[in-house]
Amino acid sequence: MIELRVPGDKSVSHRALLIASLADGVSRISGLGDGADVRSSLAVMRALGAGIDTMPAASGGLDATVRGGPLAASGGVLDCGNSGTTARLLAGILAGSGLGGTLDGDASLRARPMRRVIYPLQAMGLRARYLGSPGRLPVRLEPRSSGTFRTLRHRARVASAQVKSALLLAGVTARVRVCVLEPARSRDHTERLLREMGAPLETAEVEEGFEAAIDPAGWDGRLVPLDLSIPGDPSSAAFLVGAALLAGRGVRIEGVSENPTRTAFLDVLAGMGARIERSATSMSGGEPIGEWIVHAGAALDPFDLGGARIPSLIDELPLLSVLAARAAGRSVFRDAGELRVKESDRIGLLAENLAGLGVRVEELPEGLAIQGTPGRLEGRVRTGGDHRMAMAFGVLGVDPAASVRVDDPGCAAISFPGFWDLLERIRHG
Ligand code: S3P
Repeated sequence: MIELRVPGDKSVSHRALLIASLADGVSRISGLGDGADVRSSLAVMRALGAGIDTMPAASGGLDATVRGGPLAASGGVLDCGNSGTTARLLAGILAGSGLGGTLDGDASLRARPMRRVIYPLQAMGLRARYLGSPGRLPVRLEPRSSGTFRTLRHRARVASAQVKSALLLAGVTARVRVCVLEPARSRDHTERLLREMGAPLETAEVEEGFEAAIDPAGWDGRLVPLDLSIPGDPSSAAFLVGAALLAGRGVRIEGVSENPTRTAFLDVLAGMGARIERSATSMSGGEPIGEWIVHAGAALDPFDLGGARIPSLIDELPLLSVLAARAAGRSVFRDAGELRVKESDRIGLLAENLAGLGVRVEELPEGLAIQGTPGRLEGRVRTGGDHRMAMAFGVLGVDPAASVRVDDPGCAAISFPGFWDLLERIRHG
């Protein structure tokens, strides 16, 4: 059994840094992921005056102390790098705090839709100007010197934890009521952290979907500082689980998040015939943490996925797609149009790369159909700078009958520094 650990969860790391910066006192956070995305959050929060000290953590990643307090406007550009979570959550915090600033990012982030978060913030009273293409970064948020910020009831067309979080954080910082209705459940780390910190946060399952609301009536606005150990990232662990299945190795992964809004891919793998034991071990920041044991030797069946399950496994679809290439039959996923506006057009790139390796694949408007094959797969993969594309095809490369060259392996460090070393450990047993 190969023993492995994964970096701290990227989604929780971003939120911990951003929200602890708003707290009333000093937060201690251990085991932050230290991929390039989390470093983008660190850099922009420091640029806004947050007092964040970091040091390398014993278990890998970063430990941080964060002195919360009012943020200050930044004259310069707030560079969010490749990180959509940084850009969107920060838009909510700046808008709610009445602070001006220009949000920007790399070429991939500049291509991603921002109107979904800026538009509802404008409905609350934000004044914003797109400096490049409409609806895209860079965007200039104007400071708000006086006047009130309006309450918001927002019905989101697609489930997005980034949009939901941005709007809730705008409500927290402006201290106005915000309610977000989503058609399906998206990851709920913001809600869990805010609740831990004493914010008046309510969630409910309603007929049309899921609601999360912040209702500051009677709240003094105080966020209690955090003492938080970040759970291991299930989306990173997913790649190691996939590699173990293709290489035929047993692996044990400790300290990984068991948040049910993140682990739906494990149910899919179980349906494909994988044997994965899970046990809950602890809680941190309102998040359940557990241990996974992947047993070697499963032959994989195909999957058929769509509907409300998609948001809770959206980041795992690249990995599931490469596993589908080795399943005994035709796998399909649908209703995943959001995958086209991630760090790359993941549907288009998965189709291109799978076909290039010799897999029969059909591109659907909002999904893929993939015909599994036991045959030899060989070729070069174009990542488009997308970390999950690099790691998914790295995983396919551990299959004994595959030879895969990834054009930009370094981009895995956006979320998972050290990924390739762990992959080699699995490959060689
Ligand atoms: C994230 C939410 C998801 C996910 C992304 C991280 C987050 O994006 O794909 O990797 O941390 O809130 P959307 O909010 O766009 O669905």
